[in-house]
Amino acid sequence: MLAAFASAIDRDDPLGGLKIGDRPEPAPPDGWSVISVRAASLNHHDLWSLRGVGLSEDELPMILGTDAAGVDEDGHEVVIHSVISDPDWRADETFDPKRRLLSEGYQGAMAERVAVPRRNVVPKPREMSFEEAACLPTAWLTAYRMLFTRGGVVPGCTVLVQGAGGGVATAAIVLASAAGARVWVTARAEEKRRQAISLGAEEAFEPGTRLPARVDVVIETVGEATWKHSVRALKPGGTLVVSGATTGDKPPAELSRVFFLQLSVVGSTMGTLDELRRLIRFCVENDIHPVIDRTLPLTDAREGFEALLDGSVVGKVVFTV
Ligand SMILES: NC(=O)c1ccc[n+]([C@@H]2O[C@H](COP(=O)([O-])OP(=O)(O)OC[C@H]3O[C@@H](n4cnc5c(N)ncnc54)[C@H](OP(=O)(O)O)[C@@H]3O)[C@@H](O)[C@H]2O)c1
Repeated sequence: MLAAFASAIDRDDPLGGLKIGDRPEPAPPDGWSVISVRAASLNHHDLWSLRGVGLSEDELPMILGTDAAGVDEDGHEVVIHSVISDPDWRADETFDPKRRLLSEGYQGAMAERVAVPRRNVVPKPREMSFEEAACLPTAWLTAYRMLFTRGGVVPGCTVLVQGAGGGVATAAIVLASAAGARVWVTARAEEKRRQAISLGAEEAFEPGTRLPARVDVVIETVGEATWKHSVRALKPGGTLVVSGATTGDKPPAELSRVFFLQLSVVGSTMGTLDELRRLIRFCVENDIHPVIDRTLPLTDAREGFEALLDGSVVGKVVFTV
């Protein structure tokens, strides 16, 4: 079957190991379903995989992709949940030390077919296309958990989203503003700042700008490039939620500010199946549709990876199968 996969790992030239070509059909264990993929979305995670973060040489070749929407063996339209916990794990699966993601340990979703545990399949909402639904399992689920589970965002609070053009960031802008929060963003390019306003942000600033007021919650996925600004943007008692560090994971910690202003620095990773269901319901009830930068056939996946790597994307890149 056709797939986009990592054939080699290269920290400096991640696309050097990307191949679009033939891979074996999935061989699902008992209790797993094979989903015929209609759309799969690209995440920064796929670039990390090609750089060898979370993926080792001995797992290659590995089909990339954590996200897909498609059709199950009974003809139902479905979305997959990418966090695969141990079958005996009963609590929040993001805390399972044995959890893996599709494309780490299990072949990923950028393929004609993908195998997932049956419990990791949820109905696709009728209100969304396959392309839109394929954006939910990683970027949108991560944003949902960062805002509502980990960040405690409530109507009327002010949220700063750093790196407004990103997949997680665009989801955070749309979800937080739909939930009644005032959303401020930073983005490097004027065009991305303009698009953030059209997605629901009240104001958009250049990275590092002194804000008109301090905020309740910061949504941080950029890392070193924005960390200092994120800490300084918070009100006393505010919360910085971090799920990514695209520009580096060793910024100065700003400890004096953290303890003196009693800030909370909260980590967040992916989300649970229950949160994915709630995210879908929230989107349907508020007529929310994931932000898609471009849709490409899987055969042209390299073009999408190149755009994500050069930072010219706003929202999600989706591959159709
Ligand atoms: N822990 C988890 O479960 C989890 C889940 C999802 C994502 N993540 C991580 O979160 C990060 C974002 O993921 P994504 O898929 O949303 O990535 P993405 O779509 O590639 O977005 C990255 C954003 O980072 C900003 N950025 C990049 N370099 C920058 C720089 N030098 N200075 C300022 N901003 C910069 C850009 O914002 P502007 O161009 O708009 O300024 C860009 O849009 C990744 O590191 C990913 O691995 C983690």
